[in-house]
Amino acid sequence: ENSLNFLCHLPANFLPFGNGEIVTPRLENGSSEAITLQLPFKFFGRTHNQTFVNNNGHLTFTEPLSDYIPLLNSGRDIIAPLWTQLDNRRGGTISCREDRSSAVLALVTAAIDRYFPNITFVATSAFVATWDSVPYQNGEGVTFQVVLVSNVHRSFILINYGDIAETEQMWQAGYSTLDSLHSFTIPVTSAPELSSSSNINVYGRRSFHVDGSPNCKPMQPEARASPEPFLSLFL
Ligand SMILES: *[C@@H]1O[C@H](CO)[C@@H](O)[C@H](O)[C@H]1NC(C)=O
Ligand SMILES: *[C@@H]1O[C@H](CO)[C@@H](O)[C@H](O)[C@H]1NC(C)=O
Ligand SMILES: *[C@@H]1O[C@H](CO)[C@@H](O)[C@H](O)[C@H]1NC(C)=O
Repeated sequence: ENSLNFLCHLPANFLPFGNGEIVTPRLENGSSEAITLQLPFKFFGRTHNQTFVNNNGHLTFTEPLSDYIPLLNSGRDIIAPLWTQLDNRRGGTISCREDRSSAVLALVTAAIDRYFPNITFVATSAFVATWDSVPYQNGEGVTFQVVLVSNVHRSFILINYGDIAETEQMWQAGYSTLDSLHSFTIPVTSAPELSSSSNINVYGRRSFHVDGSPNCKPMQPEARASPEPFLSLFL
């Protein structure tokens, strides 16, 4: 599987990215334009039919967000795979697409079915946003990918972490809602640890069920594991 990943230039577990995607502007604190979601995304009781990909490591839904100081519980729905000050003027690319191809939907469906074994789920949309080798304001770069996986009933987040350099900057990773009732901070003590830990037993990957429906816990508690060969083979 290593040679396949090498040929595709993808970190293990990442969905393909880059080709023909929307690229965010190379601006300090920049954001994408509003991106219409063909399949609206359910997030703990609200349904969002647009999203903004913000350079500083987060997705928002009602307006772009320039903030680089992390504050998950700040009165908005937000998904932040790594909220910190990032500077894509110095390098790297932040890009996204909504992917409804059968190949990608099969991959994300297989992943979610594996991580949440007691629900029946077939994805019909995957919104993929990737920060590829984007430097911190001060220091080296980070590579991560967040995927909003959904159908009309259910929604999940997949986050893939590649190389995450150590940083002295403030940072936070997780998600929160408008009312902060559904708020989660990924429990790691250093940013690089995001790449070497998991909540679903797949090194460098996290997954969360976020439509708010009950009885759907990840199959594993906080755990460390090695990369998942199954998905790597497909990539
Ligand atoms: C980015 O945000 C920081 C903190 O608010 C601010 O100091 C800086 O001027 C901003 N840069 C731009 C171009 O808005
Ligand atoms: C977007 O969502 C709002 C609120 O759910 C809805 O009223 C509106 O019709 C939607 N717009 C489109 C283009 O789907
Ligand atoms: C899902 O699995 C968990 C753990 O195995 C179990 O506690 C829970 O009752 C299951 N939920 C449903 C809806 O089957």
